[in-house]
Amino acid sequence: MQYAIKNNLAITKQKEECLVITVQLGKSQSNLIKEIDEENNGLISQLIKSGDINCQLGKTTFLYTLANSTKQKILVVGCGDAKSFDLNAAKKVIQATIKELASKKINHICWDILTLNSAISGEIAKQLPQIVSELTYCFDEFKSTKSEQPCLQKLTLLYGDKKTVNQVEGQLSQGQIIAQAIASTKNIANMPSNVCNAKYLAEQGKSLGQQYTNLKVTCFGEKELAKFNMNAYLAVGRGSANESIMTVIEYHGAKDKKAQPYVLVGKGLTFDSGGISIKPSAGMDEMKYDMCGAATVFGVMQAVAELKLPINVIGVMAGCENMPDGNAYRPGDILTTMSGITVEVINTDAEGRLVLCDTLTYVERFNPKTVIDIATLTGACIVALGHHYTGVMGNNPQLVEQLVTSSNKAGDKAWSLPIDSDFQDQIKSTCADIVNAGGRDGGTITAACFLSRFTEKYQWAHLDIAGTAWRSGANKGATGRPVAMLIQYLLDQNK
Ligand code: BES
Ligand code: MN
Ligand code: ZN
Repeated sequence: MQYAIKNNLAITKQKEECLVITVQLGKSQSNLIKEIDEENNGLISQLIKSGDINCQLGKTTFLYTLANSTKQKILVVGCGDAKSFDLNAAKKVIQATIKELASKKINHICWDILTLNSAISGEIAKQLPQIVSELTYCFDEFKSTKSEQPCLQKLTLLYGDKKTVNQVEGQLSQGQIIAQAIASTKNIANMPSNVCNAKYLAEQGKSLGQQYTNLKVTCFGEKELAKFNMNAYLAVGRGSANESIMTVIEYHGAKDKKAQPYVLVGKGLTFDSGGISIKPSAGMDEMKYDMCGAATVFGVMQAVAELKLPINVIGVMAGCENMPDGNAYRPGDILTTMSGITVEVINTDAEGRLVLCDTLTYVERFNPKTVIDIATLTGACIVALGHHYTGVMGNNPQLVEQLVTSSNKAGDKAWSLPIDSDFQDQIKSTCADIVNAGGRDGGTITAACFLSRFTEKYQWAHLDIAGTAWRSGANKGATGRPVAMLIQYLLDQNK
């Protein structure tokens, strides 16, 4: 896919070959549509009917055509200023428009942003590569017949005002880097568990380190994890034939190499069968996605290295597999975590928090500025927030607020949930310090309460991505969320 920014004069010279369509994010000019529609043998009404183009932001207007045939190769799409710009609604309009145009075998779309103010055109320039990449992504590595290559090859942004072009250029290339990061996350997350185990995650990390000389990658196997006393992490992997491996990716981009780093910790359960507390068969295949937190860390670190951010960032992928076996950990077992806190295992399917608690203790050594963990942690989060919002919790209200702001800016939605002391009673144990499962009620919050016991030494936030990291059903696959939101958070730390 090729991206370009051009002055609109360059395009209007090619008038004869262009059909100009304006997707107005604001007001409607419906009588004009009729005329143009008739001129184009009903193509326009077909476009409106088949797409979701008329959603959210109000009326879609197709302004005028410069072509008298429908054989045109270039389509110029514009969008007028919206009265109140809403990124998520605009994303839907843009997505529906591109999808429709691409299905009409149009290979070059020119998006006219010259009527927008520079802030909005910048936002659109940042979203376009992500939207196109999402629409053209396919995971066909294991298909005998590869999917057809999308005919959309080129996207050109048309600017009017010289002043805005620099900003648009910057946002466009940022958008491309974010789109690539999301695609990398999806590629790893979509890998089946017979290929993607903790060793595979480590190898991916290592090869990222070879690709980017500004990254340093270190892997720790079971022997090393035992030396660190990471007994909860090790207990989860004990029933698996695949070794547990923690992969640490370090990036030091700040002038002061010792400046406090931003730490990201990703849950990397390459398969979660539930262990001895085994899950029901239906839908268990989806537990190959239980490493989406780790895949997110991978994508974000790739973007950080590519953007050469002037901060220090450390990403940790906590790779592990939860299987039932003669050697597996059991309900009733009491584990002594790296921090010294003892945990009574109530349910071996509440394994993510056990892997994370030791990893969260491990990262204390980096003297972190903030620590954010990313985990497909609880089914309860899907009940609470559905598949639209990532759940955000933490021990610092400012950090939680910053993450929600970043999510809104990135068009990668997140919503905060409370974790006050009232919930802590649910993880009391009769024979150890705490239990690993606090019951059905407020399951997402009590999981975060568990983690909060291990994060008292720094500012911490937890992202529960159980509902947002992948789609189920006919269109099953990883979404690459919340990569965009986390990159936005890190971009905003430069200021
Ligand atoms: N990986 C799952 C959470 C999950 C379930 C994500 C379904 C997406 C869809 C996690 O390890 C798990 O099994 N959590 C349990 C916790 C419970 C036993 C306290 C859950 O949510 O049922
Ligand atoms: Mn589980
Ligand atoms: Zn899990």
